[in-house]
Parts: sequence; structure tokens; C-alpha cells
Amino acid sequence: MASASQEESASSLSRGAPHVGNDHQCVVYVTSSLPDPGTQPLEAAGLAIRQHNEPSSPSPHELSSGLQDACAALTTVADTVTIEMLEAAKRLRVVANIAVGYDNVDLAAADRLGIVVTHTPEVLTEAVADLAWALLLAAARRVTEGDTWVRSGDWPGWAPTQLLGYSLVNKTLAVVGMGRIGSAVARRAVGFNMRILSCSRTSKPELEKSVGATHTSLDAALRQADYVVVTAPLSSESFHLIDSTALSIMKETAILINVGRGSVVNEEALVDALREGAIAGAGLDVYENEPTVPAELRSLRNVVLLPHIGSATHETRAAMVELCCQNILAVLSGGRPLTPVPFQEAPRKSHA
Ligand code: DGY
Repeated sequence: MASASQEESASSLSRGAPHVGNDHQCVVYVTSSLPDPGTQPLEAAGLAIRQHNEPSSPSPHELSSGLQDACAALTTVADTVTIEMLEAAKRLRVVANIAVGYDNVDLAAADRLGIVVTHTPEVLTEAVADLAWALLLAAARRVTEGDTWVRSGDWPGWAPTQLLGYSLVNKTLAVVGMGRIGSAVARRAVGFNMRILSCSRTSKPELEKSVGATHTSLDAALRQADYVVVTAPLSSESFHLIDSTALSIMKETAILINVGRGSVVNEEALVDALREGAIAGAGLDVYENEPTVPAELRSLRNVVLLPHIGSATHETRAAMVELCCQNILAVLSGGRPLTPVPFQEAPRKSHA
């Protein structure tokens, strides 16, 4: 948390700083430690910062109290921002979520209350696509199993039958959720001469053409693909899109990667499919109930598990922090944010 003196020293906004419309101090509640540039752009504008500098995210109670008197918040995907919290936060004008996803914020409530919600698209596209490929290659070529074996000291030396995985070249890749990240994943498949299938609600002919993808139904894609990469955001339509039925029609040699949101895949059904050999393997960066990862999933060898690090590069996180700060400053200055969530892209009504 910020020290009292830190808050006091910025007890009013300096000339030219964002206007908050009353005489009260404008506090920005930041729910996590941040990489560079941190809160510096906000402090430079004269804003007071209250920061939750702990290894784990604030409890619902802490989050609610943190938001209560704040005029802006910089939140993460680990913060569930509820209708009750937003209603109680009478001075809150903007929630800048440091993520491209925004399923952790009650958007309908924010919209109704005139609170702007922003996210960080574009700047993380390439990093997340890279990580999808890291998972895909690791799962296909059993990289983490090999690493564990060598570290154990038990590796007996080279043998022709050890850790056989699957090739990538000339195979079929299905991207579930062909958007910015999905197309960046598809672009990387060109080097492996893969056939690319695109599954999204509606065909995006230009995007698909740009990456050489063919739009198909989810069903057709799952039946044909050797690799299925989920990049879809979480919505009522995508919840458990990959369920036991979907997994049952995939090839037994197929590998499923999820870098979208945990709940797009039914985790229980995935455990069964991996255990029974209905599919060959999986690579996950996201989970249904983070940070809890079911013990059954953790016990399986044919799944690579990462701790939600899709956008975790120095360069990308710096750009995400910078974009959040710019969004906060824009809203507090009475302007339009750079990257409002799509739900709020229409011109804003003025804040009550
Ligand atoms: C996002 O941006 O939505 C990621 O999942 C968080 O790193």
C-alpha cells in the first residue's frame, strides 16, 4: 500500500493535471505491483496512488475498500469487480484493466453507472501468440517431460523410443477465436507449412485471407485439426465451448492449447479426455478458477501448465502499463480513453 505521506503529498491535482470535478483528492487505486513505468505517468500528472503491493491480489473486501473512494482504478484479471463494488465507489470514473480480456469486470453495471472500462488490446497480441506456440511446441514435443527427466538424474541416455511426440510440419491447425491474437498465431504457422482453419462466430474474410485460413464450423475444425489453439475471450457464448462432446470428436493424436480464458474449456472434461487418451495432449496458460488448478490436471503428464503468462514479456507489460495510465489520464481529463472495452466503444454519456 502507498504510505500516508505518498497520498498526502499528492493531496490535490497540480495545474494542468486531470480535472476530477471537485475539491477532493483524486486517488488512483492500483491493485498490484507494476513493472516499469509503474505508476510514474500518473504521479507525474499529480495523482495520488494507493497501491496493493502484495504477492496476491486484494481480497474482495480489500478490493471493495480500495475502490470506494478512488476516482480511478488500475485492475488485473485477478480482480473480480462486481456490481456492488462499483455501486459503492461513488467517485470512480474509470477502471483500467491491465489485460485485453475484461470478463472480470461487470461491464453492464459500469456502463449503467457511467464508469469507463478500458483494456489493453494490440500491445500484447504478439506476446500471447508467441506463448501459444511455446505451449504448442512444448506439448507436441514433450519438452517439459524431457526437462523433468533430465533434471531427475534418471535419464539413461539416448534411445529410439524415448519421448516420441508429434511433428508439426504439414499438419492442420485450428484457431478457435480468429481475432487479433488468433491471426497472429495463424501467421506463425506459415513456417510449418500448416493448413489453417479458422473458427469464429462469423467469417472474417479479410483477416482469414491475410493468414491463409479457411473459415469452418467448430465441429469441422475439431474433427480435422491436429492442433487446436483457443484464443477466444470468455462470454456467455464461449463458456465451455470445448466440452466433453467437442473433445470427443477431436483426433486421438490432437493437442489442445488454451491461451484465451480458462472457462472456454470445461476443465473436468479435459482431465477425462487427457486421462483416457481421447486427445494426445494439452497446453494451458489459463484456468477456470485461477489460481486454483485442479490436482487431477496437475497430476497428468500429457499437459503443459503455465501460470497465465501470455503477455508476460518486459516489453509487452511495459506497453500495457503505459496504456492503462494513458487511459486513466484521458478519462480523468474529460477525454475519450484510447482503448475502451468494445462494449463501451460508442460515445460516452457524461459521468453522473
Ligand atoms: C489478457 O490480457 O487478457 C491476459 O489474459 C492477461 O495477461
